[in-house]
Amino acid sequence: MLTAWTKAGAVVRKNARIAAKHRLPQVQAMHSYCVIEETQHTSIGGFRSLKALSPSPVDNAWLVHCCMSRLMFSVRGVSKHFEKRDGKPLSALQEIDLDIRAGEFLSIIGPSGCGKTTLLNLVAGFIKPTTGVVLKQGVEVRGPGPDRTMMFQDYALFPWLTVADNIAFGLGAQRLRREERYARVNHFISLVGLDGFDTAYPSQLSGGMRQRVSIARALAPDPDVVLMDEPFAALDSLTRDRLQEELLAIWSRARKTFLLITHNVEEAVFLSDRVIVMEARPGRIRSVIDVTIPRPRAPEIRVRDPLFLNLKHEVLDLLGNGTPTAESR
Ligand SMILES: Nc1ncnc2c1ncn2[C@@H]1O[C@H](COP(=O)(O)OP(=O)(O)OP(=O)(O)O)[C@@H](O)[C@H]1O
Ligand SMILES: [Mg+2]
Repeated sequence: MLTAWTKAGAVVRKNARIAAKHRLPQVQAMHSYCVIEETQHTSIGGFRSLKALSPSPVDNAWLVHCCMSRLMFSVRGVSKHFEKRDGKPLSALQEIDLDIRAGEFLSIIGPSGCGKTTLLNLVAGFIKPTTGVVLKQGVEVRGPGPDRTMMFQDYALFPWLTVADNIAFGLGAQRLRREERYARVNHFISLVGLDGFDTAYPSQLSGGMRQRVSIARALAPDPDVVLMDEPFAALDSLTRDRLQEELLAIWSRARKTFLLITHNVEEAVFLSDRVIVMEARPGRIRSVIDVTIPRPRAPEIRVRDPLFLNLKHEVLDLLGNGTPTAESR
């Protein structure tokens, strides 16, 4: 984070120098500098899209930051209001600022009703913010896309399709040859340890196996980002522990950006690079915890590692000062 901001700061200073040299207004100079930089690094389109959103030189500094650092998402000043049944407004999220780095495993934890699912839906593009903006790699999120897949608590598998067909369903929009599609499906069946179950129907599988199909389906389209809303909540604790370990192994291999909502503190700390702790009414970020435990992480750290236990208690303390979580009730 520090590096990213330092970079952005350097860009701003460089822009000021360019502005002075060419007697240009600073915003314009900043734009030209960025276009030059962007041709070397990422997309010019991304910056132009940001630029359209940027009314002032101050905002430009942030836009430069978004373009120059390896940010997958940038959530800025996002509030979301819903209308209650009596017509009164309900503030689900208020003034959320959050940067999500590419390849990061980020967990969001917080009391029931604090807006976790709302935040995930905003990032997925299912809903739009009332105020503020969500950017993906510098481009405003305006709707869902195959670059972001979602995993739900209730597996959301089609009961009339086999395991292979459920996984292949996620590939629907992609123009793949039959053999390529078949190979991709088989690869993901093996990855989640379901070899031999390709022709089984969801009703013939255990809860843990269904959730593995769900993981495979989320990964098969090769998304940049996997969004998970309490994917393991319905599982018994042994299956849950196993699946956490498998998810971690899959994430280390795939190096996608994973965004997980959970009520389980241990799960959040075990899996994540950072844990976002939220509070309710209105939904806000209370704290961001950096999980500095080295990787790879062995399953035993959950009971033995002093750093793990400290971080777990830190998150629990933060939650304990707010409304109780669904888990603790
Ligand atoms: N479509 C909607 N219409 C009206 N209100 C909504 C809608 N979606 C969410 N809300 C409200 O917004 C608030 C946040 O809901 P959200 O589902 O994001 O919470 P959450 O943190 O995911 O909770 P949980 O842990 O129980 O899943 C709640 O008060 C909820 O009633
Ligand atoms: Mg929710």
